[in-house]
Amino acid sequence: MAIPSAKRVLDAAVEAARWAPSVHNTQPWTFSVSEETISLRADPDRKLRVSDTTGREVLISCGAALFTMRTVLRHEGFEPVVRVLPDPDRPSLLATLRPGAGIQPDESTAVLAGEIRHRRTHRAGFADVPVPDRLIDRLSAAALSEGAKLTPVRAPEAVDVLAALTQAAQGVQAQDRRFSLEVIRWARPPGSSRTDGVPADGYPRAAAPTEPRFPQRDYAWRHDWGYDADPRGAAAVGVVALLTTPGDGRQDWIAAGQALQHVLLRASAYGVSAAFHTQALEMGLLREFMRQGLCSGEHPQMLMRLGVTFDEKGSVRRPLSEVVW
Ligand SMILES: Cc1cc2nc3c(=O)[nH]c(=O)nc-3n(C[C@H](O)[C@H](O)[C@H](O)COP(=O)(O)O)c2cc1C
Repeated sequence: MAIPSAKRVLDAAVEAARWAPSVHNTQPWTFSVSEETISLRADPDRKLRVSDTTGREVLISCGAALFTMRTVLRHEGFEPVVRVLPDPDRPSLLATLRPGAGIQPDESTAVLAGEIRHRRTHRAGFADVPVPDRLIDRLSAAALSEGAKLTPVRAPEAVDVLAALTQAAQGVQAQDRRFSLEVIRWARPPGSSRTDGVPADGYPRAAAPTEPRFPQRDYAWRHDWGYDADPRGAAAVGVVALLTTPGDGRQDWIAAGQALQHVLLRASAYGVSAAFHTQALEMGLLREFMRQGLCSGEHPQMLMRLGVTFDEKGSVRRPLSEVVW
C-alpha cells in the first residue's frame, strides 16, 4: 500500500475539520498548514460576544475540530502528535498537530472517520426507538478517553430540572435584545448563499413538543422558516446527558470539545443523533446551579439529548479558502 504524503494527509484533515459542530455554526477556527504541521487557532471575530464572553464555546467548537483532525490522521495511517496550547505567549494558538509514527488504521477509527460528513445536529423530538444502555456506556467511555465525562441523566426529577433550567434560560435570553440579536445574526435565511450560521433546513418549522419540554433556540425568529415535519410526529426526549470536566479552564474546554466530537461520531455510527440545549450553560448562575446540584461539582460543558431521528437536515460550511490562513 502506498504511504500517503504528509502534506496530503494534513490537507485532508483540515478539509474534514470544517465539518465539526460549532456553536450557531460560527466555525470559529482557522488552520495554517505547513509541510508537516497544522496549527489550529481560534478566530476571535467569530466569538459570541454576548452569550460566550469567556470564549468557552469557541474552545469547545475548536476542540471538536481537533478531534476530527486526529481521527483523519489515524485513518490515514499516522499516529497524531498533538500539542494543546503549546505556547502561553500565543493564546489563540490552540493546538499543533503533525503526523507521527506510521500505524495500521483500525476498524473503529474507520467507522468514526466515515461519520464526519454524515453527523448532523437534531432540533426536535426523537423517534420512539430506544438508545441501548450499552451504546451509552460506549459513549461515556469515549468521553472519558478525552478527559471528560458523559453522564446519562436517568432520574425523571433531574430531567425535569434540566428542562426547567433550559426553559428559564431560553425565556430570559428571548427577553434580552442583545441575546436575540446574536441568535438572529447567526440564523441563515432560506436560499442564503452564506456558508456559516444555522440554515433554515437545519430545524423543523413546527415540531411535536417533548415531555418535558426542552426548548430549541429560536433561529427562525418570527419567520416561517424550517423544514416540514409532522407536528404530531416524533416527540421522544431520548437520553438526556451531561458532558462535564473536572476543571473549567481553556485546556478543559478543548478537552470537552474533543470528547464531544468523539461521542457524536461514535453515536452517529450507531444511527443515534444529538440535540443540544446549551442556553442555561451560557448563564453563569444557572450553570453554577447545575454544577452543584446535578454534576457532582464537575463543570457542565454541554447538555444534550441522544436519540434516533429519520429527518434529513442540511448544514453548510465555509470553503477551505476562508479557513486556511
Ligand atoms: C458549544 C456548542 C453549543 C451548541 N449549542 C446548541 C444549542 O443550544 N442548540 C442547537 O440547536 N445547537 C447547538 N449546537 C449545535 C450547532 O448549532 C451545530 O453544530 C452547527 O449549527 C453545525 O451544524 P451541524 O452540527 O448539523 O453540522 C451547539 C454546538 C456547540 C459546539
